[in-house]
Amino acid sequence: MDDLQRYNRATAHLDPPFAVLDLPALRANAEGMLHRAHGKPIRVASKSIRSRAVLERILAMDGFTGIMAFTLPEALWLVSTGMRNVLVAYPTVDRAALTELAAEPLAAREITIMVDRIDHLDLVDSAVAGVHDRQEIRLCLDIDAGYLAFGGRFRAGVRRSPIRESDQAADLATQIAKRPGFRLVGVMAYEAQIAGVGDDPPGKPALTRAIRLMQTRSQRELITRRGRIVQAVRQITDLEFVNGGGTGSIEKTARERAITEIAAGSGFFHPRLFDFYRGFGGHPAALFALPVVRRPAPGVVTVLGGGYPASGAPGADRLPQPYLPCGLRYDPNEGAGEVQTPLVGQAAEDLRTGDRVWFRHAKAGELCERFAGLHLIDGDRVVDEVPTYRGEGRTFL
Ligand SMILES: Cc1ncc(COP(=O)(O)O)c(C=O)c1O
Repeated sequence: MDDLQRYNRATAHLDPPFAVLDLPALRANAEGMLHRAHGKPIRVASKSIRSRAVLERILAMDGFTGIMAFTLPEALWLVSTGMRNVLVAYPTVDRAALTELAAEPLAAREITIMVDRIDHLDLVDSAVAGVHDRQEIRLCLDIDAGYLAFGGRFRAGVRRSPIRESDQAADLATQIAKRPGFRLVGVMAYEAQIAGVGDDPPGKPALTRAIRLMQTRSQRELITRRGRIVQAVRQITDLEFVNGGGTGSIEKTARERAITEIAAGSGFFHPRLFDFYRGFGGHPAALFALPVVRRPAPGVVTVLGGGYPASGAPGADRLPQPYLPCGLRYDPNEGAGEVQTPLVGQAAEDLRTGDRVWFRHAKAGELCERFAGLHLIDGDRVVDEVPTYRGEGRTFL
């Protein structure tokens, strides 16, 4: 039985739209990630999962430790439901959440927040000024891991921290060490230009060469710079962890001595954008099904909904991929629509009203902001349904 038959058979009792998670595919992806990490622990990026039940399944496997959360309210909620060791990977200015963090011993013990300027500490101090018996706040220093060339005129990577060099990192670490109420426990440097940029984009040879060159140089530069930074900060304070990488760079990041753990999330679902890497593959694990609701003309079918573009620089690569049956594509004039999406191509000839089309999201966790639950498939059966964050009434971003 092929995947299309298997998915259709497993979900025959369900009315689309709905989303599924193929459990054997998820497990195989997780095992592949662990293999690439060469024994270094992987911290699970929750933004790319957005379902507590799925996070729990992953964390039950050896080799995955802790969560990389995307907001402090999310981290507080996760800890209140039993999760531990949560790093919030982006700075927070949410005063109510900071107040809760400073007031709750369990939350303060299990959550680490991200800083890259002394302003962040000032903001925390002012937010929690009224807290009686304030807990010590655990901090992680965010480092800019972007790649610069031509005297800074070329830049690859994401705009995050202003801290780039070891003296800047040491300076901030020293200021934190002198400041009551805080403890620096970690360093994070995320190399998005390697981890999040596929080095095998189809049909673009010149771009492919440029990406590979940039990534090789960036990796080389990062090994020394990240090492220097970590060494400098360790002279000021004991660090519990040094985090780096993402799904696309696991094996490269794991090789660096300075790194104690890798962050990764997208690899579990293996969404469309992760098809374009030379170093690893994966199995599409998260899919959504939309029903064919009409057939406007021969060779065209229209499905309900579909306009779930992924975040990032806008472009066709951000649209979901019409995945099964093979051979369907968007009408270039309409793309993926708000309430309906026409699809053209050979396979449209064979689809009937009421049939379903299976899609993959371009990214991983954003899919879960569209659906309240994930139907878990094993073989040709749905074995469970688990809520997404949205299904639990939680929409953090
Ligand atoms: C700080 C940080 N680490 C790691 C990642 C990698 O996550 P993923 O493996 O889901 O691509 C991201 C993605 O944006 C990130 O922001």
